[in-house]
Amino acid sequence: MNSAQQNKTNNHPIARLVVLISGRGSNLKAIYESTQTGLLHQRATVAAVIADRQGAAGLAWARQTGLTVHCIEFKNFSDRRAFDQSLISATDRYDPDLVILAGFMRILSEPFVKHFEGRLLNIHPSLLPAFPGLKTHERALKAGVTEHGATVHWVNAELDAGQIIRQARVPVLSHDTVDSLAERVLQAEHQLYPRAILDVLDQA
Ligand code: GRF
Repeated sequence: MNSAQQNKTNNHPIARLVVLISGRGSNLKAIYESTQTGLLHQRATVAAVIADRQGAAGLAWARQTGLTVHCIEFKNFSDRRAFDQSLISATDRYDPDLVILAGFMRILSEPFVKHFEGRLLNIHPSLLPAFPGLKTHERALKAGVTEHGATVHWVNAELDAGQIIRQARVPVLSHDTVDSLAERVLQAEHQLYPRAILDVLDQA
């Protein structure tokens, strides 16, 4: 844990988060707000936001908010290795205590995962191990489950299979559509991610 910046009131180091996004960025926003006025206040700071798409709405929001942002697009690199190397260097520049995947849609390569192992967290919109992969809400509805939710987990080489840190459960209602269920899960995610980050910081 970096100790350069210290929380004067209780001596907790203030953890540096680098948040990786690809889209809307609502989890990024929830985490950032939590560092300002919520659970993560004086416990963590968003050191940088890195997006892999110029068009990501979360990137525009982060810029407007005054956060440090980078956009590293795959199409600008000759191959996967060069892209990964650039992503690793850009992330390392901020000396992160934790690297937070928040809707980062590119599957990370082994070198990236290895490099940040033990510092790399992801949020997945299902109660893992149920429904790894994509279209989780649609699959949950089709399966007829009565409970659904989201999971924050450590990232390892296997997709959506790292150790679970914390989960949020929501009921599936009889009239739910994919959209209504997705919205309920997303609201739960916004509470869950800051809480899970705090769990990790408390255990450090
Ligand atoms: C969330 O549902 C998250 O669980 C998944 O991608 C979505 C990102 O949403 N990994 P947002 O960009 O944070 O709004």
